[in-house]
Order: sequence, then structure tokens, then C-alpha cells
Amino acid sequence: MALLFVLVLWPNCAAEVTPEVLAAREWRTWGGPGGAMANAGPASLHPVVKPGDTIFLRAYNGNFLGVRDFKVNAKASPKASAEAFRVEKRSIGDIYHGDRIFLTNTNGFRLEVNGSEVTALSSHMGPRQELVIERNGAMSQPIAVGDTIFLRAHTGNHIDVVGETVKARFPRQGMGYHAFVVEKQPR
Ligand SMILES: *[C@@H]1O[C@H](CO)[C@@H](O)[C@H](O)[C@H]1NC(C)=O
Repeated sequence: MALLFVLVLWPNCAAEVTPEVLAAREWRTWGGPGGAMANAGPASLHPVVKPGDTIFLRAYNGNFLGVRDFKVNAKASPKASAEAFRVEKRSIGDIYHGDRIFLTNTNGFRLEVNGSEVTALSSHMGPRQELVIERNGAMSQPIAVGDTIFLRAHTGNHIDVVGETVKARFPRQGMGYHAFVVEKQPR
């Protein structure tokens, strides 16, 4: 009973360390131009999210945002390569509520929104790839691990997860399907 409780609270405790999880840790699967690397430093050492860091975005259902065959979904809970994103920003410094960011998957392609579709088709840094990161409360603190964030696209709609499906259909109302918890590798 107690063990079940712990597993429900911390689903990641049970996550298997597969080769994909190790690859995400080392960012070995980078396929982008220039062989750029991301800092996959662990949450315990680097709680604040800096441009260039590797993060994972956990949806309400415990699954992470991920990219498979250029499609964006929320299928898996291990922190594997498909779920690893490098955070970028046009200016230097920490990332705050309201900043415009880019999220690059280990395939080298950036999340983008076209209408209600969310994909990762190219390494462009245009308006469709630009996402405004938002947070409830404590606005003067930079975004850090454990924060709940929302991603607003150029369309004004926020990225949502329903089951394994990822879209950008509505302006956010409260939390729920639009909320992502920022995580990094535990160690
Ligand atoms: C955006 O989506 C529409 C409708 O699915 C499609 O026709 C168009 O090619 C897409 N544009 C880009 C740039 O992906």
C-alpha cells in the first residue's frame, strides 16, 4: 500500500534506465546542424533553467512531451531522447515568465505550431517556433525545475495535452491540460 502510494506520487522512481534514457542524459542523439550540445546537468546541481539546458516537460498525466517521426505527442514517462528538449532564447540570462523561447528536440528540430497542430519539422527559429513561457505566481523568480509552466504559441493558443495527443487549440483556462512541470535529469 505504502509502496503504491510512493509510485503514484513519484512515477519516475520506477522509470527504467534504457539506452534512450542514457542518450538523453548525454545528448548523444543530437542531429542538428553544427553538432550543438545541450547542458544535461541534473536538477540537483542546476535547478534554474538556463538557455542551453536540457529539460523535460511533464504533462498532467505523467507523460512527457516528446517527438516521434516529427510528430509531437505525450506518450512516454521515461526521460528518454525523444522527450529531451534544449531550451533556447534570443537573449542571454535566466528564463522568466513572458520570455520567448524555442524548444529543440534531440532530433535537432524545434517545436512549432501551425494552426492547432504541434510538430517538430525544422530547425527554423521563426514565429511559428517561438513560444511564450508563462507561469502562475512568483513572477520575479526565474523558471526552475518543479515549476508549472504554460506554452503560448503565436496563434495565442496554448499547447495542450489530452491523453497522448498534443495540440494547440485553446487559450488556456486555469491549469489542467495546458500545464507542464519542468524537470531535468535527476542526476
Ligand atoms: C500548416 O497546416 C496546413 C493545414 O494542415 C498545411 O496545408 C500547411 O502546409 C502547413 N504549413 C506548414 C508551414 O507546415
